[in-house]
Amino acid sequence: MTDDVLLVHGGNPLEGEIQIRGAKNLVPKAMVAALLGQGPSRLRNVPDIRDVKVVRGLLQLHGVTVRTGDEDGELILDPSHVESANVADIDAHAGSSRIPILFCGPLLHRLGHAFIPGLGGCDIGGRPVDFHFEVLRQFGATIEKHPQGTYLVAPQRLRGTKIELPYPSVGATEQVLLTAVLAEGVTELRNAAVEPEIVDLICVLQKMGAIITMGTDRTILITGVDELGGYNHKALPDRLEAASWACAALATKGDIYVRGADQIPMMTFLNTFRKVGGAFEIDDEGIRFWHPGGELKAIALETDVHPGFQTDWQQPLVVALTQATGLSIVHETVYESRLGFTGALNQMGAHIQLYRECLGGTPCRFGARNFKHSAVVSGPSKLIGSELVIPDLRGGFSYLIAALAAEGTSTVHGIDLINRGYENFMAKLRDLGAHVELPAEALVTA
Ligand code: EPU
Repeated sequence: MTDDVLLVHGGNPLEGEIQIRGAKNLVPKAMVAALLGQGPSRLRNVPDIRDVKVVRGLLQLHGVTVRTGDEDGELILDPSHVESANVADIDAHAGSSRIPILFCGPLLHRLGHAFIPGLGGCDIGGRPVDFHFEVLRQFGATIEKHPQGTYLVAPQRLRGTKIELPYPSVGATEQVLLTAVLAEGVTELRNAAVEPEIVDLICVLQKMGAIITMGTDRTILITGVDELGGYNHKALPDRLEAASWACAALATKGDIYVRGADQIPMMTFLNTFRKVGGAFEIDDEGIRFWHPGGELKAIALETDVHPGFQTDWQQPLVVALTQATGLSIVHETVYESRLGFTGALNQMGAHIQLYRECLGGTPCRFGARNFKHSAVVSGPSKLIGSELVIPDLRGGFSYLIAALAAEGTSTVHGIDLINRGYENFMAKLRDLGAHVELPAEALVTA
């Protein structure tokens, strides 16, 4: 399908300004939270990405009216008439995203039952949902798995409970929050994820009337209430998209002002960016990222849950590390298979070797399980344009960065996947002076 292919003519620095909007990893969840309210909610700073469309479709199937507001990027969500959806209609969303799993708690509260289609999401590891179902069982739900999806029933009002997650999973923490707020009694969650997007979701729920206390040591206490209202909320900016553009500036020796980027949720990234040799300047409206000239420096990097170095920053940064002098070590501790994308970078001329051992830092849960989850990147390498097939969202954007940094033309297949999480990326690339064209455009100019 030629629509899904992009020709990238590399070798030019990306320069200019782009605007980012609300975080992909918060906005769809805040949309799900609207299901819990008795009145309408207003969500602002919503990006036009596919995950938002999927959740909008699923909400509408359940009787929630979703319309755009007067402000650009504003959604009004009215859950006054929540109803059961047709299973076949829900099933049409199978494989589209991971967000549907978060409908469980809100639908159990509103309807007493829920049907969740097969999940999608990036292929960067096993991505099980065992924590989610275990948590829901603890609240009192019964769960039946069927080939086409999962049926859940709450025979009576869900009850608050004590939960300790085996790992601080973002999704499982959100599952607990979205379920506990209307459950009877108090829920104590231990080993919770505390990513900025989770804190923003807690802010949304507090605006709706929830009582949530963040304690020390990854503990969250939720006191269930009988009813929640709507909210009015501006989503926090997408720190993952901001970092992707920062890495694009570094790898292409460019200079990009990311309007909307915020310092606090990016502090760990900014420190690492500086260690590699990137420059940045922060003002009230955004962050300017650039390559200050000279050599980039190799680093040792370990991904981790917040406040560690976010796994979603790893793939774009690895492309920049191919341009750094010396040996960089990357230890991926969140997903077991998030380094597979490096094979294509090697095909372009990079020197990246993968290892099963935990290199560089503390041993992680993947060390004993035979996954290639550490990398040694030897640089700098001259990258040459190549034929690339996008494997996942962040890996895909990383291929675009590599193609833009490379000499010659790359043919990148599967670019539609990038629309899942990067709003208007083609227009942004062009605004930054990237030489990209769809094959049909190339034919016209030939
Ligand atoms: N895990 C389990 N069982 C579970 C849930 C998670 O074993 O039931 C494991 C996972 O396999 C993984 C680890 O726990 O090894 C962390 O997974 P987590 O649940 O935290 O991830 P998620 O909620 O599925 C979200 C983001 C990801 C981001 C991670 C980590 C969304 C829609 N996705 O995924 O974003 O990498 O948190 O911060 O919010 C991306 O944006 O490209 C992306 C993949």
